[in-house]
Amino acid sequence: MPKFDVTPLAREHVADMPPYVPGKPILEVQQEYGLDKVVKLSSNECPFDLPPELGQTVAAAVTGCNRYPDALCRHLRKQVAALLDVEDANLIFCNGAEEGIRLIAQIFLNQREKAVIPTPIFDAYSTATLLMGAQPVKLPLKDHRIDLEAILEVCNRQKDIKLVWLCSPSNPTGDILKKTEMDAFLEQLPGDVMVVLDEAYREFVTDNRAVRTEDYLDKDPRVVGLRTFSKAYGLAGLRIGYIVANPQVIGLVNNVKLPFNVNSAAIAAALYMLEKPAFAREHVALAVSERAFMREELCRRGLDVPESQANFVFVKLPEKLRLNGTALFQKLLPKGFVVRPGTAFGVPGYFRMSLGTREDNLKFLQELDRAMP
Ligand SMILES: Cc1ncc(COP(=O)(O)O)c(C=O)c1O
Repeated sequence: MPKFDVTPLAREHVADMPPYVPGKPILEVQQEYGLDKVVKLSSNECPFDLPPELGQTVAAAVTGCNRYPDALCRHLRKQVAALLDVEDANLIFCNGAEEGIRLIAQIFLNQREKAVIPTPIFDAYSTATLLMGAQPVKLPLKDHRIDLEAILEVCNRQKDIKLVWLCSPSNPTGDILKKTEMDAFLEQLPGDVMVVLDEAYREFVTDNRAVRTEDYLDKDPRVVGLRTFSKAYGLAGLRIGYIVANPQVIGLVNNVKLPFNVNSAAIAAALYMLEKPAFAREHVALAVSERAFMREELCRRGLDVPESQANFVFVKLPEKLRLNGTALFQKLLPKGFVVRPGTAFGVPGYFRMSLGTREDNLKFLQELDRAMP
């Protein structure tokens, strides 16, 4: 027993906050089950190895690491601004979109204010909200979609709601919000409520009705978008994402962010991936074809799979199977497949799987058939 108990000294809520449960690392599964190959489908990462030339680019950047990185990622900001057709002043970079989530919470959430969180959804919104001493107001999805009407009802009824966390395509369902829905939502939302639109999976969207933060930058400064190089560009391990917003919001982010939140290697890697867009294009093409293929295959097996516009699918196991997401996860693990059980999102009857290569997906289906009684 230590002499001092420091846990009670932590700020309110911190000791009770559930830690992030990461997807099981490949090496750990390999060692545990003596496997040559493990296919990790639990964190919506890119299944391709990155180009070797990227390694050379990053190595070259590392030789300059006696200097601090550019705090505003100016060169990268220009490239991304051109790509999105926005102004440089609409962008600020962060240590992954997750840091963006924390920064937005730090800027807008006072203690005891409320933030609406559709549920199930990416758990970082809840963590960031709780960390600020603010209160999550969790609202269930409707038919696997974010229920904007229910959110409006709560925001118009309760006076202390400061922020709404939205995600499109949403994690874990893969569902998108449509621009027409967002327009109507913003029209009826009280003027003092901020709206975060997490578009970490934006590059995988093929439905042209989907909402885009870019459409609101001038006309509605309440909308704050999040993007990342972790998904389509495959740079999850380097930690680089960005906020897309009205310059007013970007200014506030710049007031609170750590000056050197993005490291030089990550900046160089992101620039490389933008210069060689074929990699991201091929990755997106794979995800788009595999999500249609896997949805069809899974539905054919009697599983319920909402249509996904992301690089993963969310799967409901039939109740009569008496097999929940965790049991399935445990059955698939020794076979070398790691999925994300729905328990991580509070929905035990589901699992979420990232889309792998066709070869891996076919083997996954074989193992799934064996695992399902
Ligand atoms: C919806 C959503 N937003 C953000 C992230 C994290 O992105 P990053 O790696 O840029 O922090 C994820 C990662 O899974 C996600 O699903």
